[in-house]
Amino acid sequence: MTESAQVTLAETPTDKLALSHFAHGTAILPELEDGQFLVEVKYLSVDPTIRGWVAHDTYLPKIAEGEVIRSLGAGEVVASRNDAHPVGSRVSGLTGWQSMVIMDSAFPIPDGVSYEDALSVFGMTGLTAYVGVLDIGKPEPGQTMVVSGAAGAVGSVAGQIGKILGARVVGVAGTPEKCAWVTDELGFDACINYRDGSIAAQLREACPKGIDVYFDNVGGETLNAVLGQIRDHACIVMCGAIANYDTGKLPPGPANIVNVIPRRARLQGFIVLDHYDRARDAAAAMARWIGEGRIKTRFTVTEGLDSAPEALLGLFSGQNTGKTLVRL
Ligand SMILES: NC(=O)c1ccc[n+]([C@@H]2O[C@H](COP(=O)([O-])OP(=O)(O)OC[C@H]3O[C@@H](n4cnc5c(N)ncnc54)[C@H](OP(=O)(O)O)[C@@H]3O)[C@@H](O)[C@H]2O)c1
Repeated sequence: MTESAQVTLAETPTDKLALSHFAHGTAILPELEDGQFLVEVKYLSVDPTIRGWVAHDTYLPKIAEGEVIRSLGAGEVVASRNDAHPVGSRVSGLTGWQSMVIMDSAFPIPDGVSYEDALSVFGMTGLTAYVGVLDIGKPEPGQTMVVSGAAGAVGSVAGQIGKILGARVVGVAGTPEKCAWVTDELGFDACINYRDGSIAAQLREACPKGIDVYFDNVGGETLNAVLGQIRDHACIVMCGAIANYDTGKLPPGPANIVNVIPRRARLQGFIVLDHYDRARDAAAAMARWIGEGRIKTRFTVTEGLDSAPEALLGLFSGQNTGKTLVRL
């Protein structure tokens, strides 16, 4: 008999997300069937998209009240009726917020790759940055690329890839400490603090030639300011809009959107799930760049399954730097 500690959705949020929207409990898991394997979860990936999943249908169905919170995670196989995932092997996949989980498919974690890296640079986070910059934004050497959420999981990697491609990279982040990390350690050319006065004025100073590529993780006021300063044939990579996620209602659209017409600009949204055919290329490139010291990472880790809701809430007040994980 296997017990699993679980965090479930107690109540659907209609306004701001709160700890009271989550419930903590345990469940007894059934016996394994052919093709299944039992995973002891070691780490959870805490991602802004969960905020959408608990509230409404997105690119995946809404999490129903009473259901385990859907989430990426990683752990060790402790029982198996699946030859591809023997006991003792390590996997990552959709574990959910629970301590033990029965799975029928997952990605194997190669030897030498830590759980932390499997859930960040070598996982969904790294692939999002890789596809967004290389396949969509495609900055050219010397062009100006702006990245919002620059000290976050995806943004920190996206900006470093922009530097590798030879772009001049300007970050946007929410504290002076984050801006210092992004410029001094990650090698961005500049970083503006969006909480420190006019975003548009700061961008104008940091991007005197205008903006060729914008990797947008936040939407809102920053997107509007960027749209007012794009160059001809600019590309806006619509990765995320976290400024809109925890408000309960959508803000008015960006007034500067009309500038897309005279600038002949392109806005392209994407969902990383559609791009797993690029995962092998992305992982190989990340391994090379990390080895060369050109991609650096940082983690914000909380302890214990019960800390997962608070870690998720922390994404919306900027508590994290780099990738947010829960260690079980
Ligand atoms: N399209 C896809 O397939 C895909 C895949 C993965 C992630 N994403 C999106 O990418 C974005 C970043 O995800 P992540 O996992 O890397 O999260 P993250 O950047 O590590 O964490 C979220 C960060 O957003 C910033 N933030 C929160 N509220 C904000 C606001 N109102 N205005 C401006 N910044 C705000 C905070 O940093 P500050 O302190 O700087 O405010 C916070 O640290 C999210 O929008 C996410 O939904 C999209």
